[in-house]
Amino acid sequence: MAGSVLKNVFTQLGGTGVRRYATNLHKVTLIPGDGIGPEISAAVQQIFSACKVPIEWEPVDVTPVKGPDGKFGIPPAAIESVNRNKIGLKGPLMTPVGKGHRSLNLAIRKEFNLYANVRPCRSMEGYDTLYRDVDVVTIRENTEGEYSGIEHEIVDGVVQSIKLITEPASRRVADFAFQYARNNGRSKVTAVHKANIMRMSDGLFLRCCREVAEKNPDIRFEEKYLDTVCLNMVQDPSQYDVLVMPNLYGDILSDLCAGLVGGLGLTPSGNIGEGGAVFESVHGTAPDIAGQDKANPTALLLSSVMMLRYMNLHEHATKIERACFETIKEGNFRTADLGGQAKCSEFTGEIIRKIEESD
Ligand code: IPM
Ligand code: MG
Repeated sequence: MAGSVLKNVFTQLGGTGVRRYATNLHKVTLIPGDGIGPEISAAVQQIFSACKVPIEWEPVDVTPVKGPDGKFGIPPAAIESVNRNKIGLKGPLMTPVGKGHRSLNLAIRKEFNLYANVRPCRSMEGYDTLYRDVDVVTIRENTEGEYSGIEHEIVDGVVQSIKLITEPASRRVADFAFQYARNNGRSKVTAVHKANIMRMSDGLFLRCCREVAEKNPDIRFEEKYLDTVCLNMVQDPSQYDVLVMPNLYGDILSDLCAGLVGGLGLTPSGNIGEGGAVFESVHGTAPDIAGQDKANPTALLLSSVMMLRYMNLHEHATKIERACFETIKEGNFRTADLGGQAKCSEFTGEIIRKIEESD
């Protein structure tokens, strides 16, 4: 499965792949999420029905439950659902700061070994930002680094946090980045690192990237320090294409890139593993506007478009994506985060109207 998964990971070129999922109604696990999660998930579901997407949603509750070890985690029914369906769509989940249960967002990535996090950032026509032609994809190692959660207090007032970098995880994400570049018609992969300072850990990550680059001579490879990439990215993002990096760097740099095209409300994300994938919006739960029909469902919708491409449902993906882009471009139904006054339901309604019109 891994090969075909990589081949089909939301290719932006369309595709002619076999519809592995289209003949039987494939089930997709839906984690609506907290805050605005349920309303933006409902918007995606309505758009999918209007587009007659051949999937069946399986909504699950991920309210943390206490496990046998006394720690709170994802409920077994939700884990079983993702394991069975191999595909999930997830709204935002609240992460407690500095206390309480570990982030469920991370628990999901860890639990299903979703080792590559893919975040494309493309300028959106009609929504002007500083640059018009941003088109970069960050590929973030998604299972280790500073996100390993290994922290302890050595003595009072001194805490140690371990950044774990392993050869297999570095190699597989580097492999993924090159295959992704090839399958999506992209020409360059940049490894982002701080091996000048983190000589052993980032040194290992970089060595793995170099080795994988040698096996992929058709794709250009370059190495850049993280701080240099941040500087370049805000001055001239056109010099970058696909970027691969350890976990924390990817968390930060993907937000920076999202900022270049209008923010986290517009950018999709996919967590890809060997045997499955979970697509998610990475913005917060926005509790201040929850339940008020004000949220922008675009990030979750575009994540669901990535999901459809991953499932080889290219026609449905393209139809939904086009209707969403058109609606934003026309600017008549913009939600408040994009400077408009439209309700979530009005924006969703316009996308549905465009989909039905194109039938
Ligand atoms: C992201 C988010 C998460 C992360 C949070 C919500 C735990 O910022 O997906 O980028 O830090 O990875
Ligand atoms: Mg983040």
